[in-house]
Amino acid sequence: MKKMGLWILGLGLVMVVAVSITSVIGKQSVAWTADEIKLIQSLSLRALAPLAQYPSNKYAQDEQAAKLGKRLFFDTRFSKDGTIACATCHVPALGFQDARALGLGASIGTRRTMPIAGTAYSPWLFWDGRKDSQWSQALGPLENPVEHGGARTQYVQLLEKHYKPDYEAIFGVLPDFSDPKRFLSIAGPVEDRAANAAWQGMKEGDRELVTKAFVNMGKAIAAYERQIVLMPSRFDDYVDSLSLANQTNKNLTDLEIAGLRLFIGKANCVQCHNGPLLTNNEFHNTGVPMPASKVKDDGRASAILAVKQDEFNCLSKYSDATSNDCAELRFIQSDTHLLERAFKVPSLRNVASRAPYMHAGQLQTLAEVLQHYSYAPVAPSGHSEIKALHLNVKEREALIAFLTALDAPIIAPE
Ligand code: HEC
Ligand code: HEC
Repeated sequence: MKKMGLWILGLGLVMVVAVSITSVIGKQSVAWTADEIKLIQSLSLRALAPLAQYPSNKYAQDEQAAKLGKRLFFDTRFSKDGTIACATCHVPALGFQDARALGLGASIGTRRTMPIAGTAYSPWLFWDGRKDSQWSQALGPLENPVEHGGARTQYVQLLEKHYKPDYEAIFGVLPDFSDPKRFLSIAGPVEDRAANAAWQGMKEGDRELVTKAFVNMGKAIAAYERQIVLMPSRFDDYVDSLSLANQTNKNLTDLEIAGLRLFIGKANCVQCHNGPLLTNNEFHNTGVPMPASKVKDDGRASAILAVKQDEFNCLSKYSDATSNDCAELRFIQSDTHLLERAFKVPSLRNVASRAPYMHAGQLQTLAEVLQHYSYAPVAPSGHSEIKALHLNVKEREALIAFLTALDAPIIAPE
């Protein structure tokens, strides 16, 4: 009788231990393998190399240039009617974007405003990558009729009027642009016919003086943009304390971990969204639907020639780089057939807090984005590279939870 009691007690003990083990496994799901941990660590912000020199812009690390660039970024006088600054669309409180489907400046554009943090790492700028540096990118909106809508002669005259000492402390003597016979104030190689004719009518040497000062505005703005930086998210904290031996840190919930598992596994989002900024910096056609406006946009395919011919590209006379520094441009992937309607892979950092999504804000929520990847519709033109993932409701929920764990503050100079 006594023996029997002990035996039952022993069995009971074994059962209790067994139950508690299964409940732990059930809750923690499967452990990460060494290879998975390596891949996860490659996505951490801490794997991001410190910003190196920026060969085409020798002022990129100049503190005074960044200070001037910041003031230019917020100064609405640098626009056709004095109402638009970079910050009109790249709003600091909204993570340097505007939460609109289409950018709205002098009039409405055809693409969504992109965030700025991290773009110092981008070899190509804009949704189609038609610019190959931050400084040459900055010069685009200034002369774009639907954005700032002005022209470069007007801008260098404003520079002379309001920023002369600051400019000269960085870039040296600013030429005198005040003679209205030599420098018509609305002149530049822009769409506006009168402004363009005025520009063509100027002496070549004068045009060169204007363009040099205009380029330096872009270099100062780029120096400021470099200082707009991403902070680590909960995901990065999770990766920080993750190792083969220790997989129980509480920085992510079980649902978020399940999302991460899909992201690097079955859903294979890392095929394109990889590295610490969760982008491969390349261009892909993912079959995103036409925007409501039905404006045709063939993305990267049209931008290849544009960047090769850009007056401000890495190989141009305004660049501070040597041709060896311009490998991206020299070896540009130019198969326009593959790049028809391909767009830049966006970073997914802070993605949950910047709806709507895609290059023209076609999708309103992350749920719609996951729906898109689940069904992989036929591309409006070109060929979509994605295959239907058939994600169920729970899987989509997990992926959204994971994406939300990438939210973190952005730091910019006061
Ligand atoms: C009218 C709104 C608007 C204004 C003003 C504006 N932007 Fe933008 N910005 C956009 C839009 C829209 C895009 C994407 C355009 C495209 O792909 O063709 C963009 C793209 C960018 C990018 C590319 C980011 C990337 O990941 O490739 C940077 C950097 C940027 N803008 C900086 C600036 C700067 C600097 C200024 C001021 C000189 C400025 N923007 C003025 C709307 C605006
Ligand atoms: C073949 C490359 C590729 C794969 C695989 C891929 N993406 Fe993307 N992703 C892109 C491109 C390119 C865009 C921008 C497309 C556009 O605007 O037309 C994008 C856009 C997004 C956006 C919108 C971001 C924004 O700022 O608008 C989210 C969110 C996103 N992807 C999440 C995912 C998730 C989650 C997965 C896996 C289920 C995934 N992606 C798989 C290339 C890819």
